[in-house]
Amino acid sequence: MAEFKEAPAGAPLGAKLLTWVDNRFPASKLFKEHMSEYYAPKNFNWWYIFGSLALLVLVIQIVTGIFLVMHYKPDSSLAFASVEYIMRDVPWGWLVRYMHSTGASAFFVVVYLHMFRGLLYGSYRKPRELVWIFGCAIFLCLMAEAFMGYLLPWGQMSYWGAQVIVNLFAAVPVIGPDLALMIRGDFVVGDATLNRFFSFHVIAVPLVLIGLVVAHIIALHEVGSNNPDGVEIKATKDARGVPLDGIPFHPYYTVHDIFGVGIFLMAFSAVVFFAPEFGGYFLEYNNFVPADPLKTPPHIAPVWYFTPFYSMLRATTDVMVKVLCVLVAAGVVLTVLRGRFSGLGKVITAAVGLVAIALLLSIDAKFWGVVVMGGAVVILFFLPWLDRSPVKSIRYRPGWHLGLYIVFVVVFLILGVLGTLAPSDFFTLVSQVGTLFYFGFFLLMPWWTRLGTFKPVPDRVTFHPH
Ligand code: HEM
Repeated sequence: MAEFKEAPAGAPLGAKLLTWVDNRFPASKLFKEHMSEYYAPKNFNWWYIFGSLALLVLVIQIVTGIFLVMHYKPDSSLAFASVEYIMRDVPWGWLVRYMHSTGASAFFVVVYLHMFRGLLYGSYRKPRELVWIFGCAIFLCLMAEAFMGYLLPWGQMSYWGAQVIVNLFAAVPVIGPDLALMIRGDFVVGDATLNRFFSFHVIAVPLVLIGLVVAHIIALHEVGSNNPDGVEIKATKDARGVPLDGIPFHPYYTVHDIFGVGIFLMAFSAVVFFAPEFGGYFLEYNNFVPADPLKTPPHIAPVWYFTPFYSMLRATTDVMVKVLCVLVAAGVVLTVLRGRFSGLGKVITAAVGLVAIALLLSIDAKFWGVVVMGGAVVILFFLPWLDRSPVKSIRYRPGWHLGLYIVFVVVFLILGVLGTLAPSDFFTLVSQVGTLFYFGFFLLMPWWTRLGTFKPVPDRVTFHPH
């Protein structure tokens, strides 16, 4: 046990109280470690605001969620009406509900930008691999949280969206039908499904999410933040061991982040008060119609943040599976011809390739669609090992790397738009090309990230005082 400290005689009551607490709980120590003596690089730019904003949105979602649960009824015959009751009769209920629904979309806007910042500055590279992996797990949890939350209002889109997505699990060979039955708790989406999704949405997933966010920040504070130059500030320290290019997070970045929070809240309020449905993108019009198991809506589309992945699912047709077989075959031939390993290694590669092609052709394309959709998220976990560029930040990479990132973003957005539209032959073709580009971008990283002329990385961060 640590020595008990005494507050100096005549110290203010607040100081005495803090000493009393510090003797029993490391409040000041934690504040120092994570705020006033956490040295963050002095060259952060506005891309660095989104981590704090994600924390803010998490709090908004939890607080508004608690108030929604006070009036919401997780029962298939009462759920829709209870949401209408919140909107019309509960004092300020409309505000709480719109804050929660807008918060869901805001969460994804903020998190997508936060992830893209990581990509730009190579923040996932050594020693921040675990920060990134916790982040990817957070992203998966967030998707599960949003998907299950969307069933709760029990509107047409809630119902049919869940029906489509849960049915996908039935495409898994052998265990598929039983798996889908287990998720639904019934042969169709029904009351049992609503109850289990409610339980996961309000307690199980948020608990995991909060745990992961804590792990994400502890891991980050262990290794220290990256910055737009991708230079490790811990490499140059003063006599006290403080990084020369570091400044205390508090008060410098707390003030910086409060400014960002102000701007964010203006945009957030503008949507909540003036466009909560956001043209049908944040709240789909069909979801203002109660769920009707006998009436399938003509066009079922998920909410915008899922649509790039939904497009990849729809792109995986029989033709696409054949294209994948050709790509696997080409990959195997190239590896066998040019790979620098033994004869046995080549035989194993050829055998793995043949098995992969046999599996691709023998299982339904719908299953491969699910694999492609899941794979698009899972591949992100491997980014720290796929990127082999000699420098971290985009600032010191060849110009065309930035060009490629821009094409990647455009392709991701196109996939997103296509996922909201009814399919056509042309759109399917575009989403197939987009899906191949998405996977090519990541899978070929070990090759292309090493190409081109890199600029010299400075020893210290670049910083121009305003
Ligand atoms: C609830 C969601 C999340 C919260 C609350 C959160 C919170 C934070 C905070 C507060 C920081 C430090 C400030 C900053 O650098 O912006 C941070 C850094 C970071 N986050 Fe997240 N994050 C979330 C999701 C994610 C996701 C989904 C990823 C990636 C898949 C991710 C990857 C990173 C990385 C790589 C850093 C270090 C950045 C650097 O030092 O340059 N985070 N996060």
